[in-house]
Amino acid sequence: MRYVLVQGASGGIGLAFVRHLLKRSDVETVFAGARSPGSSEALQSILREAGGRLQLQRCDVTDEASIADWATEVKRRTDRLDFIANVSGILHDADGLGPERRIEHADPAQLQKVFAVNAFGPLLVAKHFHPLLHHGERAVFAHLSARVGSIGDNRLGGWYAYRASKAALNQFVRTMAVELKRRNKNAICVALHPGTVDTELTKPFQKSAKVLFTPDDSVSKMMKVLTELTPAATGGFFAYDGSTIDW
Ligand SMILES: NC(=O)c1ccc[n+]([C@@H]2O[C@H](COP(=O)([O-])OP(=O)(O)OC[C@H]3O[C@@H](n4cnc5c(N)ncnc54)[C@H](OP(=O)(O)O)[C@@H]3O)[C@@H](O)[C@H]2O)c1
Repeated sequence: MRYVLVQGASGGIGLAFVRHLLKRSDVETVFAGARSPGSSEALQSILREAGGRLQLQRCDVTDEASIADWATEVKRRTDRLDFIANVSGILHDADGLGPERRIEHADPAQLQKVFAVNAFGPLLVAKHFHPLLHHGERAVFAHLSARVGSIGDNRLGGWYAYRASKAALNQFVRTMAVELKRRNKNAICVALHPGTVDTELTKPFQKSAKVLFTPDDSVSKMMKVLTELTPAATGGFFAYDGSTIDW
């Protein structure tokens, strides 16, 4: 892997992807996008230590122009990517958005916001970056989904917007995997469940977690899974331990 890209690099798992990739000697450049890279102290600190191997750019997945600008900048520097991690996602935010416990909590504005970030955003990232994956060699496109996006595995209910947005993401991943395979038979495009990970996203819900991974641990596990996947696995939905998850 020489050229790699992490979208959603300022969060717990995104930062761990950036750290993990920078440790690899085969990685020449890590392109990292975040909503507000200048205000992420963690990203700025990694940037200072990365010696030019980290290229940071603003990317808000709800603003297609920012995705297009970032893609133009990346394409100026490379004509190929070997790995893309589409990481960003929301479950709750500072404006009061949070997972619905009951059907009465369903709110059109919140549904739109969660779908815009968790489902439409990653698809638009794929729209602007997929041409860099058609080089004929192994190219991995990993999308951070969630087990709760599984329809078959839904036994608890609740969390309407988050669950459904991840289910929509899974369908987008499966659909784009079919198309990417036609353009590069060595492309591997998958949805991943990272486990329950200690990040801002899970902070309010960690009490019920049986196992809580650190972001670095989760990313190491997911990278091991991705390394072992073959092109036959494209379009699949995998957990951090390599097991497949029911759609
Ligand atoms: N943590 C878990 O246990 C868990 C479990 C299953 C799935 N996941 C999935 O894993 C992914 C990473 O989550 P995390 O746990 O690392 O959460 P996190 O620490 O809250 O990070 C979320 C990331 O998404 C970014 N983001 C939010 N809205 C965005 C937008 N409009 N444009 C671009 N980026 C945006 C955030 O950017 P800012 O820094 O600017 O806010 C942040 O970088 C998510 O897709 C999540 O659904 C996590």
